[in-house]
Amino acid sequence: MHPSLFLAALCLGIASAAPQLNQSLDDLWSQWKATHGKLYGMVEECRRAVWQKNMKMIMQHNREYLQGKHSFLMAMNGFGDMTNEEFRHMMIEESQKESGSLLWFLAVEKYIVTFIICFQGRCASGWAFSATGAIEGQIFRKYGKRVSLSVQNLLDCSQAEGNEGCNGGLMSNAFQYVRNNRGLDTEESYPYVARDGPCKYRPEYSAANVTAFQTIPRREEALLVAMKNMGSISAAIDASLDTFRFYKGGIYYDPKCSSEDLNHGVLVVGYGFQGKESDNQKYWFVKNSWGTDWGMGGYIKMARDRNNNCGIATRASFPIV
Ligand SMILES: *[C@@H]1O[C@H](CO)[C@@H](O)[C@H](O)[C@H]1NC(C)=O
Ligand SMILES: *[C@@H]1O[C@H](CO)[C@@H](O)[C@H](O)[C@H]1NC(C)=O
Repeated sequence: MHPSLFLAALCLGIASAAPQLNQSLDDLWSQWKATHGKLYGMVEECRRAVWQKNMKMIMQHNREYLQGKHSFLMAMNGFGDMTNEEFRHMMIEESQKESGSLLWFLAVEKYIVTFIICFQGRCASGWAFSATGAIEGQIFRKYGKRVSLSVQNLLDCSQAEGNEGCNGGLMSNAFQYVRNNRGLDTEESYPYVARDGPCKYRPEYSAANVTAFQTIPRREEALLVAMKNMGSISAAIDASLDTFRFYKGGIYYDPKCSSEDLNHGVLVVGYGFQGKESDNQKYWFVKNSWGTDWGMGGYIKMARDRNNNCGIATRASFPIV
């Protein structure tokens, strides 16, 4: 199908399911479009409907926050014109690609079309950011040297280890790649372009070696021990909920967040607590890769010792350099 026909069909589907446009939000919508440099043309109305639905959900959540029903705030951000389904295809991985081949095919079409028209430069590369962050941390711990490593190198070159570039991957496969490859280029020599391309690794620009990696037993106590001994740790989480997409501050906890359905890679860089530790206000301090507009300057506090919420301890690992 021609891309513009497909998008028109997609927009009809969204708009018919969406509420009437609320004129009291017109100014906010204009501001938001200007802030994020959005130009839509014929698809503006359906994007507005999606944005408005998200905006209302965020306002409702924050009203409930003020009533003490949640431990964290949400805020509108640059992901506000996407449905949850679109966001999942754009920024996070499919955890169950094999389920339903026809649905999957449609999802891919939708992904490509939306990607080209509205959201160029988006890529499910959390796993690669998590892996480079963990390797950089271990190099600093061991050699006292700060290096910035190439995310794109991992996206383009670790297919043989089982990764799929912008479609997703595992941090452990990335560590394995660096080990097999006997090197990983610097960010400066191999910059991030957020789309798949041919492997352009050049050994003369390598700044890292990995000799092995360790996976951590799937318990939050084990994650804490590993952090105390090793510093930053790579973790896979469920990042698919709207509460996570629009997180702004406070301690993130959502009972709907899965401990098994993991779809995004992050870097756990610290831990702490607010108030009294006994109040269950403990958190993991986590670095995400969705830019500094998201969350607390790009970081999130995620609930700690609350039943492995979002699977933070389910598949955690670190490299040995
Ligand atoms: C429009 O949105 C405002 C702000 O959320 C709300 O107070 C108002 O009730 C809404 N109006 C309609 C018709 O939905
Ligand atoms: C990685 O290890 C190889 C030897 O296996 C060595 O020649 C190279 O200098 C190392 N690279 C870095 C950045 O330490």
